[in-house]
Amino acid sequence: MRVLVTGGAGYIGSHTVLQLLVANHSVLIADDFSNAKPSAVTRLEELAGQSIPVCRVDLTDEAATLALFDDAIAGGQPIEAVIHFAGFKAVGESVAKPLAYYRNNLDTTFSVLRAMDVHGVRQFVFSSSATVYGENPVRERTEDMPTYATSPYGWTKVMVEQVLRDLAVADDSWRIALLRYFNPVGAHASGRIGEDPSGLPNNLMPFVAQVAVGRREKLAVFGDDYDTVDGTGVRDYIHVEDLAAGHVAALERIGLRDDALSVWNLGSGHPESVLEVVAAFARASGREIPYEVVPRRPGDVDAYWANPSKANRELGWSATRTIDEMCADTWRWQSQNPNGYPD
Ligand code: UD1
Repeated sequence: MRVLVTGGAGYIGSHTVLQLLVANHSVLIADDFSNAKPSAVTRLEELAGQSIPVCRVDLTDEAATLALFDDAIAGGQPIEAVIHFAGFKAVGESVAKPLAYYRNNLDTTFSVLRAMDVHGVRQFVFSSSATVYGENPVRERTEDMPTYATSPYGWTKVMVEQVLRDLAVADDSWRIALLRYFNPVGAHASGRIGEDPSGLPNNLMPFVAQVAVGRREKLAVFGDDYDTVDGTGVRDYIHVEDLAAGHVAALERIGLRDDALSVWNLGSGHPESVLEVVAAFARASGREIPYEVVPRRPGDVDAYWANPSKANRELGWSATRTIDEMCADTWRWQSQNPNGYPD
């Protein structure tokens, strides 16, 4: 299939692009490079052994998005499916800049869906998040739980999911996958592509990696008084390579299914606490990870993880990599690229 990958130069997008190419799909990347570097694509091309078409485009621009689809047809390679990663994703920033988050995450999706509608393209895979489960007291999340959010970022995911559900009801020729990611970490085994957050990392694993490599002095552990195994927050970490494989599986499956819309959790199903992640990273890197316990981060949930059995069953997919492999691959990427991608 010819797949448009929006946000394909980003962290999860780049790993998925590589796996799509390995699975013999052809890819067109659309990215505005607001939170990704062009050198990520150069490295992808090296790893894939082929050039990868990239379009620098602001997908909130509906005319430019339509032109992308028209140009693909004119070039003899019409777009047949879309994986939509592009979006703003920092929870804290979304609280400070709600309008920017709602505008960007909703408008990019509307532009892409409109262009797909105009051109009769019906296969759409959406980057959703386990954040849509909100604060449900049942820690093991299943796809049938109600959705709710605790930040503007989270609401953009809930809202786009609702738009897509309504679209699937209105026209059952759509084939839509909502993929709810748990906590993606790790990097490609080559150490050539990985997560490169700009500024202070918001998420645990990149922060720990930057402490290990000496870019930061110590980790702040946000609370050790939760009702969990050691008092620290518990999450379901999933290797980005497993996550990328989940996208390829979903893309290849939706066209074969009768349902216009399918929802799948992409997680490992294994809960890990902050201190368990810190210990695993110390083992993988051979470095000490200094940390200090500080008060809870506002808005944090104590513990949740995926029940991934629906994806296991319906996609024939499962997350296979352990937390030790996630840390080892993160460390290879971080130690080979202490300052991330070159500019
Ligand atoms: C957050 C977002 C989620 C988003 C995900 C991206 C919420 C509530 N959270 O998840 O939507 O999809 O990022 O990966 O919407 N921690 C520390 N110190 C740190 C950083 C984190 O102790 O410096 C702890 C947190 O308190 C938490 C765990 O580590 O218990 C994981 O945090 P993080 O990596 O930020 O991910 P989430 O908050 O789970």
